Amino acid sequence: MSAGSPQPIRHYLQFSDFDAADYAHLFARAALIKKKFKAYERHQPLVDRTLAMIFEKASTRTRVSFEAGMYQLGGSVVHLTTGDSQLGRAEPIEDSAKVISRMVDLVMIRTFEQTKIEAFAAHSRVPVINGLTNEFHPCQILADIFTYIEHRGSIAGKTVAWVGDGNNMANTWLQASEILGFKVHVSTPSGYEVDQSIAGLRSGDSYEVFRDPMEACRGADLVTTDVWTSMGYEAENETRRTAFADWCVDTEMMRAAQPDALFMHCLPAHRGEEVEADVIDGPQSVVWDEAENRMHVQKALMEFLLLGKVA
Ligand code: CP
Ligand code: NVA
Repeated sequence: MSAGSPQPIRHYLQFSDFDAADYAHLFARAALIKKKFKAYERHQPLVDRTLAMIFEKASTRTRVSFEAGMYQLGGSVVHLTTGDSQLGRAEPIEDSAKVISRMVDLVMIRTFEQTKIEAFAAHSRVPVINGLTNEFHPCQILADIFTYIEHRGSIAGKTVAWVGDGNNMANTWLQASEILGFKVHVSTPSGYEVDQSIAGLRSGDSYEVFRDPMEACRGADLVTTDVWTSMGYEAENETRRTAFADWCVDTEMMRAAQPDALFMHCLPAHRGEEVEADVIDGPQSVVWDEAENRMHVQKALMEFLLLGKVA
């Protein structure tokens, strides 16, 4: 178990938990791990290690990518949800953390408030990974930037246009821009802006706000968006539908971006709402690579958290 491991515990609760050198390592490892996977070559550094996955919200990609990824690394997984564990019956998060982390080597949590995953991590004997909270989705941005690098090379100095809600994805893109040296053009409807203190930014110098989504896309190297209503905010569905009507990424916005601009969406997507079908299903879209890359980058992440910077 990791309690006796020589590695100090590191958690991955938000993008800013790692620095640029850590990311350089992770992207290089993910590329190697992906190459081996494609060649049907075994890569099993985590034999006998167990990952607990705790889901308090629905998931397809996060569940499959962590579960398949951990098996491929030689380990195994335990899957818990609020409905089928004591978590849904108000067992304190601190007690859950103490118990679960005595039996497994790694924990991935998808939950609501960031404070909840922080409380879990504070009482965990093993590394904790954020599989999405209301505030952040670091594993997704890790995959998105890896995908950008695969298609276009380094993201440093590039411009990412964020069109839509000032949500967990937007916050995480902003954190990433400060660490990896790129710029974000943010356009949200009014009332749905990014809150710099929630996003946990160091300076706020790496992003610019645009009222008009078309202006945000102008000259961008990557255009990206997300659902209008994130999980946990369903009661606001109808209000959001009206407020976000002009924040649908369409072919005109893509034309305002660089001719070789990529389109990304973390998925699940709603064609005709936040993105036109012609864009998400068009030639500039790399959404399927993004989804697949969740698995490869998370394999690199789990290896890093348990074994450090292995060569
Ligand atoms: N992008 C993403 O996290 O997808 P799931 O909600 O399906 O896990
Ligand atoms: N912002 C979305 C992302 C889903 C993967 C949500 O939190 O529901």
